[in-house]
Amino acid sequence: MHITGAFVTGGASGLGRATVDSLVARGCKVAVLDLPGEKLNAVLAAHGPQVFAVPADVTDETAVDSGVESAMQWLGSVQLGVLCAGIVLGSRTVGRDGSAHPMGMFRKVLDINVAGTFHVASLLASAMSSNEPDDDGQRGCLVMTASVAAFDGQIGQAAYSASKGAIASMTLPMARDLSAIGVRVCTIAPGVVETPIYDQLAPEVLQALATQQLFPKRLGRPAEYAALVNHIADNTFLNGEVIRLDAGTRLPPK
Ligand SMILES: NC(=O)c1ccc[n+]([C@@H]2O[C@H](COP(=O)([O-])OP(=O)(O)OC[C@H]3O[C@@H](n4cnc5c(N)ncnc54)[C@H](O)[C@@H]3O)[C@@H](O)[C@H]2O)c1
Repeated sequence: MHITGAFVTGGASGLGRATVDSLVARGCKVAVLDLPGEKLNAVLAAHGPQVFAVPADVTDETAVDSGVESAMQWLGSVQLGVLCAGIVLGSRTVGRDGSAHPMGMFRKVLDINVAGTFHVASLLASAMSSNEPDDDGQRGCLVMTASVAAFDGQIGQAAYSASKGAIASMTLPMARDLSAIGVRVCTIAPGVVETPIYDQLAPEVLQALATQQLFPKRLGRPAEYAALVNHIADNTFLNGEVIRLDAGTRLPPK
């Protein structure tokens, strides 16, 4: 797909940052939505005029509405939206001490990972609807981020798996909705990719995760996620699909 403008949420770190770097390298202008702070400033410092920062929390509807609007003024038009903003929080359905799952935590994970993704995706699709269609009638493409936890969630991942299962489940209905305006929707379900999301984990735990991979026996690289985003954008026949990017690994219960 010919992309002049892209919009990436969670683009200040990890999978989103690698995607921003890859899109800038192919000559696109990229709007990056993330929480305000040093990481977002670092993207601007690295890419200068090819990047526009949208400092916002994806759960803040007003900030997201006005952030997307100002990004659209800067971009002119957007053909690719990549939804990476997300968090991982873990807690058992009943804790070892017999206490119930903290509901505030459950709602927070759903709010950021699901509602935050859907809100931005809907705004971007709306903006794409006024693009000139290409020869296939295509006006744009959205790539959302689930997780292998959507399918093989581990102990303590009820909230996270619910959020990523929702992303996987809404992929097809969104693709069906947006077929009317020529916008494709695909989702990537990554396995364990080495990003700052695991900063709280001890290095030996991360190393143990690497040895659990089927093949290759290493953690995924953010650039491998970015490469798949670019392939989805360029392969017009991919639509309504959830693609695992996980080295063939199926997560054990814990
Ligand atoms: N790294 C992995 O192994 C892995 C595996 C499966 C799925 N994922 C998913 O990939 C996505 C990206 O994860 P990552 O590994 O790059 O993590 P990361 O922590 O490096 O990046 C996530 C980004 O999202 C931003 N973010 C978080 N909450 C936000 C909010 N409320 N508003 C705006 N921005 C917010 C963070 O500031 C951060 O820049 C997440 O949705 C995560 O669940 C990651």
